[in-house]
Amino acid sequence: MLAGKKILLAVSGSIAAYKAALIVRLLIKEQAEVRVIMTESAKSFVTPITLSTLSNQPVYSSFYKNNSEEWHNHVALGLWADVLIIAPASANTLSKMAQGLCDNFLLSVYLSARCPVYFAPAMDLDMLAHAATQKNIDLLVSRGNHLIGSDVGELASGLNGKGRMAAPESIVNVLITHFKTGVFHNKKVLITSGPTYEALDAVRFIGNHSSGKMGYALATLFAEQGAQVVFVSGPVKNYPEHEHIEVVKVTSADEMLMVCKSQYVDIDFAVFAAAVADYKPSKVFDKKHKKNGASINLTLIENPDIAQELGKMKTKKQIHVGFALETHNEEAFAKEKIKRKNFDLIVLNSLQDQGAGFGQNTNKITVYDRFEKQFPFELKHKKEVAQDILKLMASYA
Ligand code: C5P
Repeated sequence: MLAGKKILLAVSGSIAAYKAALIVRLLIKEQAEVRVIMTESAKSFVTPITLSTLSNQPVYSSFYKNNSEEWHNHVALGLWADVLIIAPASANTLSKMAQGLCDNFLLSVYLSARCPVYFAPAMDLDMLAHAATQKNIDLLVSRGNHLIGSDVGELASGLNGKGRMAAPESIVNVLITHFKTGVFHNKKVLITSGPTYEALDAVRFIGNHSSGKMGYALATLFAEQGAQVVFVSGPVKNYPEHEHIEVVKVTSADEMLMVCKSQYVDIDFAVFAAAVADYKPSKVFDKKHKKNGASINLTLIENPDIAQELGKMKTKKQIHVGFALETHNEEAFAKEKIKRKNFDLIVLNSLQDQGAGFGQNTNKITVYDRFEKQFPFELKHKKEVAQDILKLMASYA
């Protein structure tokens, strides 16, 4: 899919540099022409010979060819490339790119490149979260560089958190998307995700265990396919990060509805993945309610149904996808919901299936369309489930 595309891969010094070998292999498999630049510190993590063998080209890391006076022309390399991708982008390289420093070959190519630039940060979680690094990333994005956000997971330090370089497959998918215009390219997608918290008093709430992982996977995939995503999410641990994703953080169902309605104007696709609380307390104490030995009776009133409300606003232009998490009578409930909420597709997951549901990394779904056609899928990682859902959506668009 990348036949004839000229891709310049710049590798900086992070432990994730060893994954550059896989990126090169995948790019070559896609028939791209690949050239590789390395910083001196990247060579501690992967050898130039590995990358030159895989790319079938010399690897560039200094201004001169080894032991000779012959110059490596950084300007020519920058002009040669259709895309420059810096992966992994270490904290040091990011910072230098943001400042416009030019003390190595990689930076001179970056500064002289006229092609689109992608960068995939990789570092320890605290380094990534540091205000200085975040500022550098924001600065680079504001100057038109494309961020490929880091993943959450186990890090080389042994800590667990956000900072892993995006998977080589995802990086290559981003580049494939760059060169193609698919169904979702430039489309506007609204996604609701995560739980809602319904306040009882100043410090307590009624909520649920939704992790928002499914919504996260969907938002990332849409963005990688060129869509502009508005991600309206209740409180969760991790929010997706991508230059095509606008995250709007909300707390309650009322707030989520208000944001969704205001964003709906020019939406092409809406996916309702949020686990919205069906009820909220009729009365919210504005101060922390103190115990006084007596029991409390809570009166709960129904929350608005966001999917149903937006279903009323839907025209022929939009495709709506809903979710249903059921414990029994799954099929009948799903079919009733698809009509009542005006969905085009409904994704059913049953709590009777092992590995499906809240907090899990996997999910087992069956999708129904409005004509009651059924599409069953195996138990899969939520990233792959997102791919199945997007494929089906594309066929209904
Ligand atoms: O009725 P139920 O909660 O099972 O419906 C699930 C579907 O409706 C999901 O797509 C969910 O995001 C959406 N929903 C909503 N607002 C609610 C309740 C559910 O958008 N108040």
